[in-house]
Amino acid sequence: MFDMKGRDVVSIGDFTVEEIEAIIDYAKTMVPIAKGERKSKLLDGKILSTLFFEPSTRTKLSFESAMLRLGGSVLGFSNPKGTSAAKGETLADTIRMAEAYSDVIVLRHPREGAARLAAKFSQVPVINAGDGAGQHPTQTLLDLFTIKTEKGKIGGINVNLVGDLKYGRTVHSLAHALSMFGADLTFTAPPDLQMPDHVIKKVKENGVNPRIENDLEKSIEDADVLYVTRIQRERFPDLAEYEKVAGAYRVDVEILEKAKDDMIIMHPLPRVNEIAPEVDGTKHAKYFVQAFNGVPVRMALLSLVLGVRE
Ligand code: NCD
Repeated sequence: MFDMKGRDVVSIGDFTVEEIEAIIDYAKTMVPIAKGERKSKLLDGKILSTLFFEPSTRTKLSFESAMLRLGGSVLGFSNPKGTSAAKGETLADTIRMAEAYSDVIVLRHPREGAARLAAKFSQVPVINAGDGAGQHPTQTLLDLFTIKTEKGKIGGINVNLVGDLKYGRTVHSLAHALSMFGADLTFTAPPDLQMPDHVIKKVKENGVNPRIENDLEKSIEDADVLYVTRIQRERFPDLAEYEKVAGAYRVDVEILEKAKDDMIIMHPLPRVNEIAPEVDGTKHAKYFVQAFNGVPVRMALLSLVLGVRE
């Protein structure tokens, strides 16, 4: 296994296919600990800082669960209003403090590039838990883990990314990674919310020519994985623009009649209206197991960047 001790996790592009596969394989061994079936003291004495300048449920809780299940400790904040950031402290200074108080930092920030900047200032590893509309690499690792577990492979299958591809950071990281694995990509979005050019360029550099679609009724037929996303209301400069595209797609049992029998539906969550609750009980729905997979994957990452292995 490669050495990841001290490494930052800022962008999925910082990793090779071989490294991603090794992380996924290692994460598989963490599943019994993530479920509480096996006890571990692997990260005993280590401290994780969770610095969340933006709301989070899954990412924060699953990182904390991962650290606690491995015997480590957690400190942090989920509301920057209660911190010195509200007094005007710079991100660089906040990071210097977290570095002094902990062994690894997980950062979520509204500004694109914030994690890269934080990594520059920190001696301890910085893990990007979402930087504005930029990247969300740990989400991508758990998404790839889920695809591999559910479909048996990542390359050669059609993954249809649906919804807000412009502002959604999860799909930026995921499209990039999937192209590294040679998956067949479809981008289904309203024209104003299509995948940014810089992501399309990267995907093409990796030899994948994505199908650009607007009509989900058409593109759903070919999907092996339907990756649905929320319209990122908080990133729209103008709320009237959001109102125009809100509710653009809704996956319900009716549209699922057009899908392949073994097509799976994923969603990074939270969902708003993109997936009808009636879909939850179908064999296609994998978004809750996907959210659980965040725990073993984040366990593997914490263990690797801290250089403490099973
Ligand atoms: C996503 C995020 O924060 O980018 N949530 C998550 O981490 N699972 C998706 C979203 O907010 O829509």
